[in-house]
Amino acid sequence: MDRSPVIKFAHEDQIPIELHKVRVVQKLNLKPIEERLQAIREAGFNSFLMSTRDIFLDMLTDSGTNAMSDQQVASMLQADDAYAGSQSFDRVKQAVQDVFGKEYFLPVHQGRAAEHVIFQAFVEPGHVVPMNYHFTTTKAHIELPGGEIDEIFTEEGLKIKSSFPFKGNIDVGKLKTLIEKHGVDRIPFVRMEASTNLIGGQPFSVENMRQVREVCQQHGIMLVLDASLIGENAYFVKQRETEFKDKSIGEILLTLCGLADLIYFSSRKVSSTRGGGICTNDVKLFDKLKDLVILYEGFLTYGGMSVREIEAMAVGLRETQDETVIGQSPSFIKYLVESLDAYGVPVVTPPGGLGCHVDAKGFLPHVPQTEYPAGALVAAFYLVSGVRGMERGTISSVRDDAGNDLLADVELMRLAMPRRVFTLSQVKYVADRLKWLYDNRKLIGGLKFEYEPKVLRFFLGRLVPTSDWPEKLMAKFREDFGESL
Ligand code: F0G
Repeated sequence: MDRSPVIKFAHEDQIPIELHKVRVVQKLNLKPIEERLQAIREAGFNSFLMSTRDIFLDMLTDSGTNAMSDQQVASMLQADDAYAGSQSFDRVKQAVQDVFGKEYFLPVHQGRAAEHVIFQAFVEPGHVVPMNYHFTTTKAHIELPGGEIDEIFTEEGLKIKSSFPFKGNIDVGKLKTLIEKHGVDRIPFVRMEASTNLIGGQPFSVENMRQVREVCQQHGIMLVLDASLIGENAYFVKQRETEFKDKSIGEILLTLCGLADLIYFSSRKVSSTRGGGICTNDVKLFDKLKDLVILYEGFLTYGGMSVREIEAMAVGLRETQDETVIGQSPSFIKYLVESLDAYGVPVVTPPGGLGCHVDAKGFLPHVPQTEYPAGALVAAFYLVSGVRGMERGTISSVRDDAGNDLLADVELMRLAMPRRVFTLSQVKYVADRLKWLYDNRKLIGGLKFEYEPKVLRFFLGRLVPTSDWPEKLMAKFREDFGESL
């Protein structure tokens, strides 16, 4: 029997404790608020355009920013530099086989490269891809060859406050209706995203995936798993799905992956490295994709990755089976979410993987969606804390043909919790500054675009505030915190 590692405290409240120690550190900068205002203005009020020189805690993403283990760093020294037939590839291929249970493996340079290859191969004009929820790069890469997405999340999926354990589930009834409506020929595959990113890092259950698989099998439709956050999804299955409470993370990973025909992932997340991959047990699928990998990514034994990263990826994939590795980020997120929720700050519940998601519509009801409340909240929070979050709302959406914003289903500020990077005192600082901002939320106003790119505008777009609200917020900060950074 594999029990969750629980450490009970005799005299303190239960807190998540780090089961690792820090051996290499990086100095951080916390600049005065006046300099922070200048920095966010220079970045066009877009946190993607900031330099880490101006950032205290970087909670933009967990992508490529998770801490590596000593074993991973050590493994990089044995990298076998060869264009073709590298032994480093043999080691990662074996790790994919052991952890995901898939025999054929194609390395690619990151997650969206896997999407590019798979969607180029399978999506044609007029195709519809059903999924629990889209990720930004997924939607863009499905639309590129002329396909469209159809999101079939359950009623609980988009509720901000919920106690439903599996908000990432697919509504199986909707899936059946959709197949009837479009017909099998227009559906190249069904996509399930583990720890569904844009709705708050919310997992799906094994039971749900089994049901989806059954429907897919009945109709001969392929099931594709985006496994970028599969470790966290497996962790939540163990915590929340009774059938799996005594199973190891390794066993749950094999169960989940065993239900998918084709798996792809961003290694920037799953194995705390760089890179990505595609794997399957179906040699026909492998054959269909391998030429595109050579064309776009590189030879089949490196796929655009450095061999050093491939070595670290092999070790990182194996470490995904370790509950103390995979559970650290969700337990810190839970701590932060529960602290904010208790204070009344609107946050997505139950706590998920990846990060803490603050509901900007609930936080800033006075800022209309056309003035981008999630973007405004990210800018305001950086200003008062030096913490960089990410906008996941209408700025991350697109415009319709008439030029109007397609308003996002949810307006979220994501505060990512990269694995084993922050300490609990830093997490407490985040909670404290955010509670202060909530008390002063009326001071925050909206944003408007000054420069707006056509594709994935959230990355490079520049915005300006709709009034002098940042100056007013800064004045209140000085009033309450005095000389404090
Ligand atoms: N799929 C999911 C579920 C993701 O979260 C990401 C990336 C990708 C695919 C694309 O992978 O970045 O390696 O090309 N998510 C990052 C994030 C960018 O910040 O959440 P990539």
